[in-house]
Amino acid sequence: MVYLNGNFIEKDKAFVSVMDRGFLFGDGVYEVFPAYNRKIIGLDSHLNRLQDGLDAISIKNPHTNNEWKDLINKIISFDPNNQNQAIYLQISRGSDENRKHTYGELKPTVYIQSSAINPREKSTLLNGLSAITREDIRWLKSNTKATSLLANTLYAQEAKNNDAEETILYRDGIVTEASSSNVFIVKSNCIYTHPKGPNILPGITREKVIECAKINNFNVEESSFTKEQLMNADEVWISSSTREIIPITIIDGIQISDGFAGPIWSEVYDQYQSLKS
Ligand code: PDD
Repeated sequence: MVYLNGNFIEKDKAFVSVMDRGFLFGDGVYEVFPAYNRKIIGLDSHLNRLQDGLDAISIKNPHTNNEWKDLINKIISFDPNNQNQAIYLQISRGSDENRKHTYGELKPTVYIQSSAINPREKSTLLNGLSAITREDIRWLKSNTKATSLLANTLYAQEAKNNDAEETILYRDGIVTEASSSNVFIVKSNCIYTHPKGPNILPGITREKVIECAKINNFNVEESSFTKEQLMNADEVWISSSTREIIPITIIDGIQISDGFAGPIWSEVYDQYQSLKS
């Protein structure tokens, strides 16, 4: 079952108009909420980011946070197997009579679905995964979780074509984030990640990783680092709601540090797991 514009219906019966601006222009925003045992990690943070995204593209929020919570919980409850779920919520500006770039007041299209998430077991991550790097040519509003994701999907596909987990992006030599995750490095026991701003999506998992690291008394610097520092890091991780925290040990075919997931990753990973209960 999915939710579309006021109705809970079977996914194969859910249709939107070809005049929907989400379809025509990628004109919308979205959220992905991770739910474990029907509990969402960072629910309020995700809803706040959704509001920020709607404000950024001038769409009036069609629901209160309590209404969103009810809708999301209902979608979560439909899963008979109680699997771990990624709740995908999308709001597009809505349908107009004709295709035109400009818009007036439209009724937003609201869609919510759930799919299973199966984050990798820690034991399968001990050798780390690989990534490639590419120049970040996305627009300078990457902090808005917009549905227009062409650059991100092309980067993700390039990673897949290279048997890599992710494409790590850099702009003017500075590592920003990855195609669908945030990036961390560890150097001399300090954890670094790009500061919030127009160049990165302010990941909710990123926020949780920082909290978990601080609980474990690690130093965290929200300051930028270069591609060279990435390649010379002691540890490299990526984070997202669906991937959790993944160690990266090969970048562009080059081994990072000793080629194994690092000890700081291990501790932060364990701390993150405790958020699920
Ligand atoms: N992507 N950066 C980008 C570009 C992303 O698309 C994502 C998440 C993140 C991590 O954000 P969070 O920790 O809030 O999931 C960073 C989601 C999972 C997606 O597009 O499916």
